[in-house]
Parts: sequence; structure tokens; C-alpha cells
Amino acid sequence: MSDMDIELIKAQIDSDIEKINSAKDLEEFRVKYLGRKGILAQLTSSIPTLPQEERGSFGQEVNTLKNKILSLIDEQQKSINTKTPEAKGISCDISLPGISQELGHLHPLTQIIDEISAIFKRMGFSVVEGPEIETEYNNFTGLNIPLEHPSRDVFDTFYLKLPTTNDQRLLRSHTSPVQIRVMKSRKPPLAVVVPGRVYRPDAVDASHSFMFHQIEGFMVDREIKFSDLKGVLEIFAKGVFGKDIKMRFRPHFFPFTEPSAEVDISCIICKGKGCSVCGRKGWLEILGSGMIHPNVFKHVGYNPGLYTGFAFGMGIERIAMLKYGINDIRLFFENDLRFLKQF
Ligand code: PHE
Repeated sequence: MSDMDIELIKAQIDSDIEKINSAKDLEEFRVKYLGRKGILAQLTSSIPTLPQEERGSFGQEVNTLKNKILSLIDEQQKSINTKTPEAKGISCDISLPGISQELGHLHPLTQIIDEISAIFKRMGFSVVEGPEIETEYNNFTGLNIPLEHPSRDVFDTFYLKLPTTNDQRLLRSHTSPVQIRVMKSRKPPLAVVVPGRVYRPDAVDASHSFMFHQIEGFMVDREIKFSDLKGVLEIFAKGVFGKDIKMRFRPHFFPFTEPSAEVDISCIICKGKGCSVCGRKGWLEILGSGMIHPNVFKHVGYNPGLYTGFAFGMGIERIAMLKYGINDIRLFFENDLRFLKQF
């Protein structure tokens, strides 16, 4: 080894440096020059073979060369760090699964509404929606609920005063006003279901919410009978809760139906034996129903001597809570994904 060699090595370094493109290239470069058996190690080990007087200056040259190489490596490392992963020599496996976006799905209440609507559609019902802001007439008067009648209290109501009109408006307290809208705009035969939001000023707790959902259903034609109501509701209940479900009709009062009945299904938890969900009764109330009152027909301009019909209305949250064993209505409205993801 001699000065001559050092000049050659310097030239070699310059050309090697040019070719470095990746971290891998740089590591090869480092090993080639600074590795245990690298070029600098060879130079250093040749020092004792040199004539005494050359050793000092040669040693210094080797040292300078080593520092130069170290600073070149440092420089290269910095420029590689600013390159893309591919340029750094890190290969990218394009067959690896990517970071997938989570897909959302329909809200459990929407799913139940769709499921119930589908059952009625198969029986020939059509689905209609109505506005959540209603007139007093559609929500009450047209439904044979007189303004001063105490039965109005049952359907406790949020009243609105709209700036554009002096008319009293309200947030509908049930979906029954859509009966009035549909009957006024169409002629029998009618078979309609109406899903939608309703509002009542109830204090919120595990079973009450100021906003909830109902599905209304009604059928009007000549000679619609109470037995038609029973048959339709049985198909509905078996479709949602299973074919072993039993039903019972209890006499009740609604101003817009006569006769009226509340409908129970056999408890889906204890199958009728009596448990905490059904309050030991073996039965669960799921909806209100009856034959449309002649006064309602008069309000919409139908001849009560010619037409008969049935109507029913049910709370969607209650149906969903029973079907899925949910014990708190607030879960539907809190947007907690831990709850929603289960459906
Ligand atoms: N509208 C009634 C309620 O909200 C339910 C009902 C609808 C009852 C149709 C009879 C007929 O409680």
C-alpha cells in the first residue's frame, strides 16, 4: 500500500458514492470501506510493513480518508432519509391488506321499520309518510278527538306557533293524522302503513322518550271486518316474533276507533308463563287498534254507511326492545357504536 493506492481509492470512493441510491447501497459502501475486512482496515494493517519514516504520514492520510468516508456516509444517510420508502430500498408489498374503512349500516329502528313494512307490503299495503308538524285538525279533531275532550290529555302534545301563520301547529303525537291525510286525498279501497316519528312531552327514562317512532296501519273498503284486522295483525306478529306467538285482543277505548282493542302477544321471554319482562302476566301489550269510527269517515268525506275499515298503531321502539331484549329506550338515540354495531 502506498500514496498511489490512496489516490486510486479516493477515485474509487467518488465513483462508488455516485451509485448509492438506497440504504442497502450505503450499507454495502460502508462495509466495503470501513468494514472489519474493508479497505481501510487493509490500509491500516499495512502500516507496519512500511519503512519507518513513511508510517507517520501514511497513517495520517489513512485517518483523513476515514473521516472523509464517515462524513460522506453521513451526508448520504441524510439524503436517503428524505426519499420515499421505495427509494430508500424498503420494498412495499402491495398484496398486504389495506387499512379498511368501516362500513356503516342501517339503524336498528330503520331495520325494524323496513322489516315490518315488508310484511305489510306482502299483504298488499303501501307505505306512506306524513309530516311531523301537523295541524290540530289532523292530529285531533278529524280523528274524533274534540278540542276540549279529556281524551286529548292522553296524547299530550308539543304545540308550536309558526311565525308565518296564526294557525296552531303541533308536533304530531301519533301517526294517526296520516289517516286523515290519506283518506282525504284518496278513495277506498285503501291499505296503507305509515312509519314515522312522533312527539310527546314525556320525561325521558328507560321506557319513555319525547320522540319515538310509530307505525300506523289502516284498511278501508266495503265490508272490512274486525276479523280482517285480526288476520292481518296475526300475520304481522308471527312475521316479527315467530310463528309460535299467540295474540289476544282486550277491549279498550280510542276516540277514532269503535270498537277498540289493545293487542297483546304471548310473552316472548317466558312464552306466557309469567316473568319480570311481562310483569308476571304472560302477555305483552304491543299495539292499539279498532274499527275506524264513523265520525272519522264523516270528517274525510267518506260515507260511513258504505265503507268500513280498521286501523292500528304501534310503537316501533317497543317492538324492537321486545324483539332484541333491549331494556333502555335511550340506547336507540345515544349514537353509541358499541350498541349500534350489534344490529
Ligand atoms: N294512535 C294511537 C296511539 O298513539 C294508536 C292507535 C292507532 C289506536 C290506530 C287505534 C287505531 O296510541
